[in-house]
Amino acid sequence: MTSDAPAGFATRCIHAGQRADPSTGAIITPIFQTSTYVQDALGQHKGYEYARTQNPTREALEANVASLESGREGFAFASGMAAIGAVASMLEAGDHVVVTDNIYGGTYRLFERVLSRYGLRFTYVDTSRLDLLAAALAEPTRMLFLETPTNPVMGLTDLAEASALAHRHGASVVVDNTFASPALQRPLELDADLVLHSTTKYLNGHSDSVGGIVVARHDTDIEWLRFYQNAAGAILSPFDSWLVLRGTKTLALRMAQHNVNGLAVAEYLAGHPKVARVFYPGLPSHPQHELARRQMQGFGGMLAFELGSLEHARRFLNRVGLMALAESLGGVESLISHPATMTHASVPADRRAALGITDGLVRISVGIEDIDDLTADLAQALDAV
Ligand SMILES: Cc1ncc(COP(=O)(O)O)c(C=O)c1O
Repeated sequence: MTSDAPAGFATRCIHAGQRADPSTGAIITPIFQTSTYVQDALGQHKGYEYARTQNPTREALEANVASLESGREGFAFASGMAAIGAVASMLEAGDHVVVTDNIYGGTYRLFERVLSRYGLRFTYVDTSRLDLLAAALAEPTRMLFLETPTNPVMGLTDLAEASALAHRHGASVVVDNTFASPALQRPLELDADLVLHSTTKYLNGHSDSVGGIVVARHDTDIEWLRFYQNAAGAILSPFDSWLVLRGTKTLALRMAQHNVNGLAVAEYLAGHPKVARVFYPGLPSHPQHELARRQMQGFGGMLAFELGSLEHARRFLNRVGLMALAESLGGVESLISHPATMTHASVPADRRAALGITDGLVRISVGIEDIDDLTADLAQALDAV
């Protein structure tokens, strides 16, 4: 569905893509849990024929997120990986793709273990370095696939500069905006061509749904994604669509608190004698702090910090109480993880080392609990180190 209303961001979180249900007046878009739709007569229907192709709950979510990302249309998929697969379906055998080197491990696995079998070629580069990006783009390139901030060391790519560079080389620009959410960063406004999310994370925000979405702004991309979504069929279910739609209503509010708590936890850790280094774009010590201030409207709830060794990380992680030891991120509750053995275990050790993912590195998805409770939990766990 087409995005609507040039209202403010928080207003669009709550209203974009939605209207009271015409049959009952229900203020909340119903869960249209149906596989098919009765047609009035042969060749006459209400725009809905079969639920893989069209579903009103999914369409409401797609229009909502398209509006939040300042795009034209959204396409919701069964997971973030399915959304990335949809974007990759725009490529053809022989195409070259330049990718942020510190990309999500699952994206790397899809590119290297699946898509490379179909004749696609991927070059991984530190896209925070425009000189390295320019060098990689010297080879004819169909797509630039960016993630910023990256997981877990929070490296940033200058989206406006990288998009301009890619466009000069004839490549389209895709941004995985999962870590920031459109509340903090809107790549399409910085001239990216496509933006995608694992809705599993901040968009849903409540750790109770797995999903993905792609937002497009060009006619050809929109046409292809609509065709592909129906042709490949990895759609988001009506119930999951409803959950994410419920989640985005509070996105502005949640992200504001993630920003506050993220900065407070980062500052607490930075001042702790047992913490060697903190990776958070909101700290002046972050090498790209100025870019973060320019490109993002808040620094979010993701950070990582260095405890020096696997043994220190183990002692710390076995002691946390309020913070749950778990993969994933972006929920209202704080989650803590050990990238080297959890989220990035599938990344080869030498590659992990090159990306700065040491055995002593710990990642936190800072939730929106009371900050004093979070720092108290960190304090008692750091006592064990
Ligand atoms: C940045 C990023 N992109 C994509 C994905 C994949 O999303 P999903 O787990 O919903 O398939 C993840 C999952 O952690 C992620 O962190």
